[in-house]
Order: sequence, then structure tokens, then C-alpha cells
Amino acid sequence: MSESRLRHLLSVDDLGGRGGIERMLDRTEEFLAVTHREIPKIPALVGKVVVSLFYEDSTRTRLSFETAAKRLSADTMTFSVSTSSVKKGESLLDTVQTIEAMGIDAIVVRHQAAGAPRRVTEWTDAAVINAGDGRHEHPTQALLDAFTLRRHRQGSLDGTRVAIIGDIVHSRVARSNVKMFAALGARVTLVGPPTLMPESLVGWPAEVHHDLDEVLAESDVVYLLRIQQERIAGGRFPSLREYTARWGLNAARAARLKPDVVVMHPGPMNRGVEIASEVADGPYSVILEQVANGVAVRMAVLYLLAGGAEHEEAA
Ligand code: NCD
Repeated sequence: MSESRLRHLLSVDDLGGRGGIERMLDRTEEFLAVTHREIPKIPALVGKVVVSLFYEDSTRTRLSFETAAKRLSADTMTFSVSTSSVKKGESLLDTVQTIEAMGIDAIVVRHQAAGAPRRVTEWTDAAVINAGDGRHEHPTQALLDAFTLRRHRQGSLDGTRVAIIGDIVHSRVARSNVKMFAALGARVTLVGPPTLMPESLVGWPAEVHHDLDEVLAESDVVYLLRIQQERIAGGRFPSLREYTARWGLNAARAARLKPDVVVMHPGPMNRGVEIASEVADGPYSVILEQVANGVAVRMAVLYLLAGGAEHEEAA
């Protein structure tokens, strides 16, 4: 699919494979340049309205989308469940129809139910962007991670060995990133306790390994995931201490990493659980770069989906 026909962004699959992904990453370079200007704002979305509809807690993703929309000069509306009529029992359908009636161009949806953003596309003419749905997908996180990594790997992920470590089964970030990294030519290994792996690896272009120490020395990229305690029903590993001892990236393990390794985490981090503070703040870590690049990625996505590219010729 050419980028000009991208209507919604619900999954990494919507980006149209390697070509589409690379075009979006190239676009992001242009928007990153904008964010470095003295006045980091362009009039691309003047008169457009971008709504963020967040049914789950979020700091960085919501602020990142809102910053991106503002840097494109869009008007923004924020809807968060804790202060809305959802508390009075309003359904997702009624909420979307109410927002729709106000006249909007894009809705950024985060929801605890996988598939909720797709439902929203049935109820609105606005572009829908998935900002994380249950355990399903988080495509803009995958884009910002690919963008960050590409810059650290001389422009290409071909042959890059990526280890994604931790709570894979609950992670929409893992699901989107496996697709993303594999599409760009990386070799992905999932690492963690068997109880935190998906029951089936169908649709996961990745290998599985349970011993972190065997994987670390060969990895070009170490991507840590948060242990999602809010999604873990209990009993998946004996204790957090045990988890940290076997799968946490501590200073001793970090000392065995490749000298040019890249350490990533989508945030929020559980410092001292999946990642030690000295590693998170250490020389290999690109965690804050991921956050900064997230704004540029979301500018590129909003620009294309909320009508900034309307005047451009169809690709
Ligand atoms: C992730 C999410 O919400 O899926 N965070 C994020 O968007 N940066 C990962 C997580 O919550 O662990």
C-alpha cells in the first residue's frame, strides 16, 4: 500500500511491508529535523482536530502524540476515562459518536481490549491510530524503535541480532516490534521464562530462547520489556527477585555485551527488576532517544493520516 492511501494505523501490517515502513521512517527524519528547529512547529495541520482517547493509563504515549499534534499546529482534545462520562457508564460507541459529532480528523486510541481501535474505525470517518490495544499491537512504538535503531545501525537493520527479553506474552510492544524488526531484515530472538512466552509462535517471525546468558554476547540489540504486573494473574514465576536474577539486565551481564550494543526499553521501566539503574542510565542505553524520536514518528503518522498530505500527489 502506498503511504498516501494509509487510512488508519492499527497494526504494523498496515504500513505495507518493508517499503512502506522505510518510507515512514524517511518521513520521520524530516520531522525530526523540525523538532530540532528553534521554533519546532509547522502549520501542516492548521484547522485539523486530533483527539486522544485513552482508556488506559499512559504518560509518554499520550504526551508524545499530543506534542506531535501541537507541533503540526493541529487543535487537540484529550479524553481520559478518569474524568469522563465513561465513569457514568457511557459505551465506547456513544463516546466515539459524541466526539465525532464535534468534527474531528484523527482519533488516537489506547484501550485495554485488543481490537478496540478497529471497532472505532467502524463508527467514525476520522483516521484512527492505535496507541496500544490490550496485548495486540502498538505500531507507533514499533516505528519509533525501528527509527531509533536504524540510526544506530548505519541506516539498516539487515542481519542485526535483536533479543527481546521478558514478558512477551502480555506485550503488544513485543508483537509489533517482532513484525517490525523482522520486516526490516533483523533476526529476532525472544528470551524469558517459558511462562511468559506466547502459547504459539505462529505469526511471530522469531526464535525463542530461555537462557539470557547464552544470548547476550551475540546480540547487537537488547530490548527489555516491563514485567506487566497489572496483566499477570499470578504464578508465572516464583518471585520478582527470581525473575531479576535470571532475566534482569544488571551491571555484571551488561559487562559481557558487545561494545557497540544498543539497549532499549519502551518505558515505563521497573528499575531493579528487568533493568538495573546503572544500565538504564549507562552508555549503551538509548531509552531517552526512543522517547525523543517518538514525537517525530507521531508527527509523520499524524501528518499522513490527518490530512497534512492531502495536497501531495498520490504516490
Ligand atoms: C508500553 C505499553 O503501554 O504498551 N509502553 C509504552 O507505550 N511506552 C509498554 C508497557 O506498558 O510496558
